[in-house]
Amino acid sequence: MSKLSIRDLDLRGKRVLLRVDFNVPAEERNGEIVITDDTRLQESLPTINYLREHGARTILMAHFGRPKGKPVEKYSLRPVGVALHNLLHHSVAFSHDCIGADAEAIVKDMKDGDVTLLENVRFYAGEEANDPMFAQSLAQLGDGIYVNDAFGAAHRAHASTAGITKFVRQAAMGFLMEKELKYLHEELAQPAKPFLVIMGGSKVSDKIGVIKALMEKADTFLICGAMANTFFKAEGIPVGASRVEGDKLDLARELLGLAKQKGVKLVLPVDVLETAEISPGAATHMTGRLSPNNGVRDGWQAVDLGPASIKLFQDEIAKAKTILWNGPPGIFEISDFAAGTTAVAEAMASADAVTIIGGGDSVTAVKQARLAEKMTFISTGGGASLELIEGKELPGVAALTEK
Ligand code: 3PG
Repeated sequence: MSKLSIRDLDLRGKRVLLRVDFNVPAEERNGEIVITDDTRLQESLPTINYLREHGARTILMAHFGRPKGKPVEKYSLRPVGVALHNLLHHSVAFSHDCIGADAEAIVKDMKDGDVTLLENVRFYAGEEANDPMFAQSLAQLGDGIYVNDAFGAAHRAHASTAGITKFVRQAAMGFLMEKELKYLHEELAQPAKPFLVIMGGSKVSDKIGVIKALMEKADTFLICGAMANTFFKAEGIPVGASRVEGDKLDLARELLGLAKQKGVKLVLPVDVLETAEISPGAATHMTGRLSPNNGVRDGWQAVDLGPASIKLFQDEIAKAKTILWNGPPGIFEISDFAAGTTAVAEAMASADAVTIIGGGDSVTAVKQARLAEKMTFISTGGGASLELIEGKELPGVAALTEK
Protein backbone atom coordinates (compact mmCIF):
# COMPACT_ATOMS: atom_id res chain seq x y z
CA MET A 1 0.00 0.00 0.00
CA SER A 2 2.03 2.91 -1.26
CA LYS A 3 -0.09 6.00 -1.27
CA LEU A 4 0.86 9.61 -1.74
CA SER A 5 1.74 11.34 1.52
CA ILE A 6 1.21 14.92 2.60
CA ARG A 7 5.04 15.21 2.54
CA ASP A 8 4.96 14.70 -1.24
CA LEU A 9 2.81 17.77 -1.91
CA ASP A 10 3.68 21.25 -3.06
CA LEU A 11 1.45 23.26 -0.76
CA ARG A 12 2.44 26.92 -0.74
CA GLY A 13 -0.41 29.25 -1.67
CA LYS A 14 -2.72 26.32 -2.49
CA ARG A 15 -6.24 25.80 -1.21
CA VAL A 16 -6.01 22.27 0.21
CA LEU A 17 -9.11 20.25 1.10
CA LEU A 18 -8.43 18.32 4.29
CA ARG A 19 -10.92 15.63 5.39
CA VAL A 20 -10.74 15.17 9.15
CA ASP A 21 -12.76 13.06 11.58
CA PHE A 22 -14.23 15.61 13.97
CA ASN A 23 -17.03 13.27 15.02
CA VAL A 24 -16.18 13.88 18.68
CA PRO A 25 -18.14 12.75 21.73
CA ALA A 26 -20.32 15.67 22.85
CA GLU A 27 -23.35 16.33 25.01
CA GLU A 28 -25.93 19.06 25.34
CA ARG A 29 -25.62 21.12 28.57
CA ASN A 30 -28.03 24.00 29.14
CA GLY A 31 -28.81 24.12 25.45
CA GLU A 32 -25.13 24.17 24.43
CA ILE A 33 -23.09 21.44 22.78
CA VAL A 34 -20.07 20.60 24.94
CA ILE A 35 -17.25 18.41 23.60
CA THR A 36 -16.47 15.73 26.17
CA ASP A 37 -13.38 14.26 24.49
CA ASP A 38 -11.29 16.29 22.04
CA THR A 39 -8.79 13.54 21.17
CA ARG A 40 -9.75 13.54 17.50
CA LEU A 41 -9.19 17.32 17.34
CA GLN A 42 -5.81 17.02 19.06
CA GLU A 43 -4.76 14.22 16.74
CA SER A 44 -5.55 16.34 13.67
CA LEU A 45 -3.22 19.15 14.77
CA PRO A 46 0.07 17.80 13.30
CA THR A 47 -1.46 17.74 9.82
CA ILE A 48 -3.19 21.13 10.15
CA ASN A 49 -0.04 22.73 11.57
CA TYR A 50 2.09 21.23 8.80
CA LEU A 51 -0.27 22.63 6.16
CA ARG A 52 -0.18 26.06 7.81
CA GLU A 53 3.59 26.04 8.17
CA HIS A 54 3.93 25.16 4.48
CA GLY A 55 1.75 28.07 3.43
CA ALA A 56 -1.36 26.12 2.44
CA ARG A 57 -4.89 27.51 2.83
CA THR A 58 -6.59 24.69 4.69
CA ILE A 59 -10.25 23.90 4.09
CA LEU A 60 -11.50 21.39 6.63
CA MET A 61 -14.31 18.98 5.76
CA ALA A 62 -15.90 16.80 8.42
CA HIS A 63 -19.07 15.08 9.56
CA PHE A 64 -20.65 15.22 13.00
CA GLY A 65 -23.29 12.73 14.14
CA ARG A 66 -25.85 11.24 11.79
CA PRO A 67 -28.14 14.08 10.62
CA LYS A 68 -29.34 11.97 7.69
CA GLY A 69 -28.88 14.36 4.81
CA LYS A 70 -30.45 17.54 6.17
CA PRO A 71 -29.35 20.39 8.45
CA VAL A 72 -29.90 19.60 12.16
CA GLU A 73 -28.78 22.34 14.56
CA LYS A 74 -27.38 20.01 17.22
CA TYR A 75 -25.07 18.47 14.62
CA SER A 76 -23.58 21.77 13.52
CA LEU A 77 -19.77 21.81 13.52
CA ARG A 78 -19.68 25.38 14.79
CA PRO A 79 -18.81 24.44 18.43
CA VAL A 80 -16.12 22.13 17.08
CA GLY A 81 -14.66 25.08 15.17
CA VAL A 82 -14.47 27.07 18.41
CA ALA A 83 -12.70 24.18 20.17
CA LEU A 84 -10.26 23.84 17.28
CA HIS A 85 -9.53 27.55 17.36
CA ASN A 86 -8.54 27.22 21.04
CA LEU A 87 -6.26 24.27 20.35
CA LEU A 88 -4.63 25.78 17.26
CA HIS A 89 -4.12 29.23 18.77
CA HIS A 90 -5.12 30.56 15.38
CA SER A 91 -8.48 31.70 14.08
CA VAL A 92 -10.66 29.18 12.30
CA ALA A 93 -13.19 30.69 9.88
CA PHE A 94 -16.51 28.88 9.73
CA SER A 95 -18.66 28.41 6.64
CA HIS A 96 -22.36 27.78 7.35
CA ASP A 97 -22.61 25.74 4.21
CA CYS A 98 -20.12 23.16 2.98
CA ILE A 99 -20.76 23.87 -0.72
CA GLY A 100 -22.22 26.67 -2.84
CA ALA A 101 -21.80 30.42 -3.12
CA ASP A 102 -21.27 31.17 0.60
CA ALA A 103 -18.53 28.56 0.98
CA GLU A 104 -16.92 29.72 -2.27
CA ALA A 105 -16.85 33.34 -1.08
CA ILE A 106 -15.18 32.40 2.22
CA VAL A 107 -12.47 30.23 0.69
CA LYS A 108 -11.75 32.82 -2.00
CA ASP A 109 -10.71 35.31 0.68
CA MET A 110 -8.31 32.93 2.45
CA LYS A 111 -4.63 33.82 2.83
CA ASP A 112 -1.65 31.47 3.14
CA GLY A 113 -1.77 29.72 6.52
CA ASP A 114 -5.50 30.35 7.03
CA VAL A 115 -7.92 27.65 8.15
CA THR A 116 -11.63 27.37 7.30
CA LEU A 117 -13.99 24.74 8.67
CA LEU A 118 -16.97 23.84 6.47
CA GLU A 119 -20.32 22.95 8.02
CA ASN A 120 -21.18 19.24 8.44
CA VAL A 121 -20.96 17.48 5.07
CA ARG A 122 -23.72 15.11 6.19
CA PHE A 123 -26.21 17.98 6.01
CA TYR A 124 -26.39 16.90 2.35
CA ALA A 125 -27.72 13.49 1.32
CA GLY A 126 -25.05 13.45 -1.41
CA GLU A 127 -22.33 12.87 1.21
CA GLU A 128 -23.38 9.39 2.33
CA ALA A 129 -24.74 8.54 -1.14
CA ASN A 130 -21.26 9.35 -2.52
CA ASP A 131 -22.99 11.50 -5.14
CA PRO A 132 -20.45 12.65 -7.80
CA MET A 133 -22.14 16.06 -8.17
CA PHE A 134 -21.80 16.71 -4.45
CA ALA A 135 -18.21 15.45 -4.44
CA GLN A 136 -17.40 17.78 -7.33
CA SER A 137 -18.97 20.75 -5.52
CA LEU A 138 -16.68 20.08 -2.56
CA ALA A 139 -13.65 19.57 -4.80
CA GLN A 140 -14.08 22.87 -6.58
CA LEU A 141 -13.51 24.76 -3.33
CA GLY A 142 -9.85 23.68 -3.46
CA ASP A 143 -6.95 23.85 -5.91
CA GLY A 144 -6.94 20.17 -6.84
CA ILE A 145 -5.17 18.94 -3.69
CA TYR A 146 -6.94 16.72 -1.18
CA VAL A 147 -5.58 15.22 2.04
CA ASN A 148 -7.43 12.54 3.99
CA ASP A 149 -6.64 12.40 7.71
CA ALA A 150 -10.06 11.07 8.74
CA PHE A 151 -9.01 7.55 9.65
CA GLY A 152 -12.14 7.04 11.78
CA ALA A 153 -14.32 7.56 8.69
CA ALA A 154 -12.07 5.76 6.19
CA HIS A 155 -14.34 2.69 6.19
CA ARG A 156 -17.10 4.84 4.67
CA ALA A 157 -17.24 5.26 0.87
CA HIS A 158 -18.72 8.74 1.06
CA ALA A 159 -18.32 11.82 -1.14
CA SER A 160 -15.80 13.58 1.13
CA THR A 161 -13.84 10.41 1.99
CA ALA A 162 -13.72 8.67 -1.39
CA GLY A 163 -15.75 10.20 -4.28
CA ILE A 164 -13.96 13.54 -4.11
CA THR A 165 -10.64 11.97 -5.18
CA LYS A 166 -11.99 11.70 -8.76
CA PHE A 167 -12.18 15.49 -8.97
CA VAL A 168 -8.72 16.43 -7.66
CA ARG A 169 -5.21 16.05 -9.08
CA GLN A 170 -3.58 14.70 -5.94
CA ALA A 171 -5.13 12.81 -3.02
CA ALA A 172 -2.73 12.11 -0.16
CA MET A 173 -2.65 10.71 3.39
CA GLY A 174 -2.28 13.03 6.36
CA PHE A 175 -0.04 12.22 9.35
CA LEU A 176 -2.81 10.70 11.48
CA MET A 177 -3.91 8.43 8.65
CA GLU A 178 -0.30 7.32 8.18
CA LYS A 179 0.16 6.62 11.88
CA GLU A 180 -3.05 4.58 12.13
CA LEU A 181 -2.05 2.46 9.13
CA LYS A 182 1.45 1.98 10.52
CA TYR A 183 0.24 0.51 13.80
CA LEU A 184 -3.01 -1.21 12.87
CA HIS A 185 -1.82 -2.54 9.54
CA GLU A 186 1.98 -2.84 9.40
CA GLU A 187 2.72 -3.53 13.08
CA LEU A 188 -0.05 -6.13 13.35
CA ALA A 189 0.95 -7.81 10.07
CA GLN A 190 4.00 -9.28 11.80
CA PRO A 191 3.52 -8.76 15.53
CA ALA A 192 6.28 -9.53 18.01
CA LYS A 193 5.33 -12.79 19.74
CA PRO A 194 3.61 -13.77 21.95
CA PHE A 195 0.74 -11.76 20.46
CA LEU A 196 -2.16 -11.29 22.86
CA VAL A 197 -5.61 -10.02 21.88
CA ILE A 198 -7.99 -8.76 24.56
CA MET A 199 -11.46 -8.60 23.10
CA GLY A 200 -14.40 -7.24 25.06
CA GLY A 201 -17.57 -5.32 24.36
CA SER A 202 -21.15 -6.34 24.23
CA LYS A 203 -21.69 -8.47 21.17
CA VAL A 204 -19.65 -11.33 19.76
CA SER A 205 -21.62 -10.94 16.51
CA ASP A 206 -20.04 -7.48 15.96
CA LYS A 207 -16.55 -8.93 16.21
CA ILE A 208 -16.74 -12.28 14.40
CA GLY A 209 -14.77 -11.03 11.38
CA VAL A 210 -12.00 -9.48 13.42
CA ILE A 211 -11.74 -12.46 15.80
CA LYS A 212 -11.49 -14.91 12.92
CA ALA A 213 -8.86 -12.80 11.17
CA LEU A 214 -6.81 -12.44 14.36
CA MET A 215 -6.95 -16.20 15.03
CA GLU A 216 -4.48 -16.49 12.15
CA LYS A 217 -1.88 -14.46 14.06
CA ALA A 218 -2.63 -14.31 17.77
CA ASP A 219 -1.19 -16.72 20.32
CA THR A 220 -3.73 -15.93 23.04
CA PHE A 221 -7.20 -14.39 23.22
CA LEU A 222 -8.75 -13.02 26.38
CA ILE A 223 -12.49 -12.79 25.77
CA CYS A 224 -14.33 -10.55 28.21
CA GLY A 225 -17.17 -8.06 28.65
CA ALA A 226 -20.76 -8.98 27.89
CA MET A 227 -19.43 -10.91 24.91
CA ALA A 228 -18.06 -13.52 27.31
CA ASN A 229 -21.60 -14.29 28.53
CA THR A 230 -22.45 -15.84 25.18
CA PHE A 231 -19.43 -18.15 25.56
CA PHE A 232 -20.43 -18.99 29.17
CA LYS A 233 -23.92 -19.91 28.07
CA ALA A 234 -22.52 -22.01 25.21
CA GLU A 235 -20.52 -23.93 27.85
CA GLY A 236 -23.55 -24.47 30.07
CA ILE A 237 -22.58 -21.89 32.73
CA PRO A 238 -25.67 -20.05 34.10
CA VAL A 239 -25.64 -16.36 33.12
CA GLY A 240 -28.68 -15.15 35.12
CA ALA A 241 -30.09 -11.96 33.60
CA SER A 242 -26.76 -10.98 31.98
CA ARG A 243 -26.68 -9.61 28.46
CA VAL A 244 -26.28 -12.54 26.14
CA GLU A 245 -26.77 -13.26 22.44
CA GLY A 246 -28.97 -16.33 22.72
CA ASP A 247 -28.89 -16.95 18.97
CA LYS A 248 -25.08 -16.90 18.78
CA LEU A 249 -24.27 -19.91 20.95
CA ASP A 250 -23.25 -21.96 17.91
CA LEU A 251 -20.99 -19.14 16.82
CA ALA A 252 -19.31 -19.10 20.24
CA ARG A 253 -18.81 -22.88 20.00
CA GLU A 254 -17.44 -22.48 16.47
CA LEU A 255 -14.89 -19.91 17.70
CA LEU A 256 -13.87 -22.16 20.61
CA GLY A 257 -13.39 -25.00 18.11
CA LEU A 258 -11.45 -22.78 15.71
CA ALA A 259 -9.10 -21.69 18.48
CA LYS A 260 -8.43 -25.33 19.38
CA GLN A 261 -7.83 -26.23 15.75
CA LYS A 262 -5.39 -23.35 15.24
CA GLY A 263 -3.58 -23.90 18.53
CA VAL A 264 -4.68 -20.50 19.87
CA LYS A 265 -5.21 -20.22 23.62
CA LEU A 266 -8.69 -18.77 24.16
CA VAL A 267 -9.19 -17.64 27.75
CA LEU A 268 -12.55 -16.75 29.31
CA PRO A 269 -13.04 -15.15 32.74
CA VAL A 270 -13.09 -17.79 35.48
CA ASP A 271 -15.12 -15.69 37.92
CA VAL A 272 -17.16 -12.48 37.62
CA LEU A 273 -18.62 -9.70 39.70
CA GLU A 274 -22.41 -9.93 39.60
CA THR A 275 -24.97 -7.30 40.52
CA ALA A 276 -28.69 -7.12 41.16
CA GLU A 277 -28.91 -3.86 39.26
CA ILE A 278 -26.71 -1.82 36.90
CA SER A 279 -26.45 1.36 38.93
CA PRO A 280 -23.88 2.92 41.29
CA GLY A 281 -24.05 1.48 44.82
CA ALA A 282 -26.17 -1.53 43.79
CA ALA A 283 -25.74 -4.84 45.64
CA THR A 284 -22.83 -6.89 44.26
CA HIS A 285 -21.34 -10.33 44.83
CA MET A 286 -18.39 -12.36 43.51
CA THR A 287 -19.49 -15.56 41.83
CA GLY A 288 -16.45 -17.65 42.78
CA ARG A 289 -15.16 -20.11 40.18
CA LEU A 290 -17.62 -20.44 37.29
CA SER A 291 -18.87 -23.87 36.25
CA PRO A 292 -22.13 -25.40 35.02
CA ASN A 293 -23.01 -25.75 38.73
CA ASN A 294 -21.94 -22.24 39.73
CA GLY A 295 -22.82 -19.30 37.55
CA VAL A 296 -24.50 -15.91 37.79
CA ARG A 297 -27.52 -15.89 40.11
CA ASP A 298 -31.05 -15.83 38.69
CA GLY A 299 -32.04 -12.23 37.94
CA TRP A 300 -28.46 -10.93 38.49
CA GLN A 301 -26.00 -9.76 35.85
CA ALA A 302 -22.27 -10.14 35.25
CA VAL A 303 -20.68 -6.66 35.16
CA ASP A 304 -16.94 -7.09 35.70
CA LEU A 305 -14.11 -9.59 36.10
CA GLY A 306 -13.70 -11.33 39.44
CA PRO A 307 -10.33 -11.41 41.31
CA ALA A 308 -9.15 -14.75 39.89
CA SER A 309 -9.90 -13.54 36.35
CA ILE A 310 -8.01 -10.31 36.98
CA LYS A 311 -4.97 -12.33 38.10
CA LEU A 312 -5.28 -14.60 35.06
CA PHE A 313 -5.50 -11.61 32.71
CA GLN A 314 -2.55 -9.85 34.40
CA ASP A 315 -0.40 -12.98 33.98
CA GLU A 316 -1.20 -13.27 30.28
CA ILE A 317 -0.56 -9.56 29.71
CA ALA A 318 2.83 -9.77 31.46
CA LYS A 319 3.94 -12.59 29.11
CA ALA A 320 2.99 -10.85 25.84
CA LYS A 321 5.21 -8.87 23.46
CA THR A 322 2.37 -7.39 21.40
CA ILE A 323 -1.03 -6.62 22.92
CA LEU A 324 -4.13 -5.45 21.08
CA TRP A 325 -7.07 -4.39 23.24
CA ASN A 326 -10.55 -3.68 21.94
CA GLY A 327 -13.52 -3.54 24.30
CA PRO A 328 -13.56 -3.26 28.10
CA PRO A 329 -14.14 -6.25 30.40
CA GLY A 330 -16.57 -4.42 32.68
CA ILE A 331 -19.06 -1.57 32.82
CA PHE A 332 -16.23 0.78 33.83
CA GLU A 333 -18.37 3.91 33.52
CA ILE A 334 -19.71 2.90 36.96
CA SER A 335 -16.77 2.90 39.37
CA ASP A 336 -18.10 -0.13 41.33
CA PHE A 337 -17.71 -2.18 38.15
CA ALA A 338 -14.40 -0.73 36.91
CA ALA A 339 -11.79 -2.88 38.72
CA GLY A 340 -11.25 -5.34 35.85
CA THR A 341 -10.95 -2.63 33.21
CA THR A 342 -8.54 -0.60 35.32
CA ALA A 343 -6.46 -3.71 36.05
CA VAL A 344 -6.18 -4.49 32.33
CA ALA A 345 -5.16 -0.89 31.55
CA GLU A 346 -2.57 -0.90 34.36
CA ALA A 347 -1.14 -4.27 33.39
CA MET A 348 -0.80 -3.10 29.78
CA ALA A 349 0.84 0.13 30.90
CA SER A 350 3.56 -1.79 32.73
CA ALA A 351 3.99 -4.56 30.14
CA ASP A 352 7.24 -4.80 28.21
CA ALA A 353 5.32 -4.96 24.93
CA VAL A 354 3.93 -3.02 22.00
CA THR A 355 0.52 -1.98 23.32
CA ILE A 356 -2.19 -1.01 20.86
CA ILE A 357 -5.63 0.19 21.83
CA GLY A 358 -7.88 -0.60 18.91
CA GLY A 359 -10.45 2.14 19.28
CA GLY A 360 -13.89 2.46 20.86
CA ASP A 361 -14.65 2.27 24.59
CA SER A 362 -11.24 0.92 25.58
CA VAL A 363 -9.79 4.31 24.58
CA THR A 364 -12.11 6.04 27.04
CA ALA A 365 -11.18 3.46 29.68
CA VAL A 366 -7.44 4.04 29.22
CA LYS A 367 -7.94 7.79 29.43
CA GLN A 368 -10.13 7.47 32.50
CA ALA A 369 -7.33 5.47 34.13
CA ARG A 370 -4.89 8.25 33.06
CA LEU A 371 -2.70 5.72 31.30
CA ALA A 372 -2.97 6.91 27.69
CA GLU A 373 0.63 8.17 27.67
CA LYS A 374 1.89 4.72 28.60
CA MET A 375 0.44 2.96 25.55
CA THR A 376 2.37 2.55 22.31
CA PHE A 377 -0.58 3.57 20.17
CA ILE A 378 -4.23 4.50 20.66
CA SER A 379 -6.40 4.43 17.57
CA THR A 380 -8.92 7.20 16.86
CA GLY A 381 -11.05 4.79 14.85
CA GLY A 382 -13.94 2.61 15.98
CA GLY A 383 -15.46 0.68 13.09
CA ALA A 384 -12.56 1.68 10.85
CA SER A 385 -9.99 0.06 13.18
CA LEU A 386 -11.91 -3.20 13.32
CA GLU A 387 -12.33 -3.31 9.53
CA LEU A 388 -8.65 -2.60 8.97
CA ILE A 389 -7.51 -5.23 11.48
CA GLU A 390 -9.93 -7.67 9.86
CA GLY A 391 -8.01 -7.12 6.62
CA LYS A 392 -10.73 -5.24 4.74
CA GLU A 393 -9.82 -2.53 2.26
CA LEU A 394 -10.81 0.92 3.54
CA PRO A 395 -12.46 2.98 0.75
CA GLY A 396 -10.97 6.20 2.14
CA VAL A 397 -7.46 4.77 1.75
CA ALA A 398 -8.04 2.87 -1.49
CA ALA A 399 -9.21 6.07 -3.22
CA LEU A 400 -5.95 7.95 -2.56
CA THR A 401 -3.36 8.54 -5.30
CA GLU A 402 -0.77 5.79 -5.75
CA LYS A 403 2.83 6.94 -5.42
C1 3PG B 1 -16.87 7.20 14.03
O1 3PG B 1 -17.13 7.99 14.96
O2 3PG B 1 -16.70 5.98 14.23
C2 3PG B 1 -16.65 7.74 12.67
O3 3PG B 1 -16.60 9.13 12.66
C3 3PG B 1 -17.67 7.24 11.69
O4 3PG B 1 -18.96 7.66 12.03
P1 3PG B 1 -20.23 6.90 11.47
O5 3PG B 1 -20.26 5.54 12.12
O6 3PG B 1 -21.42 7.73 11.81
O7 3PG B 1 -20.04 6.74 9.97
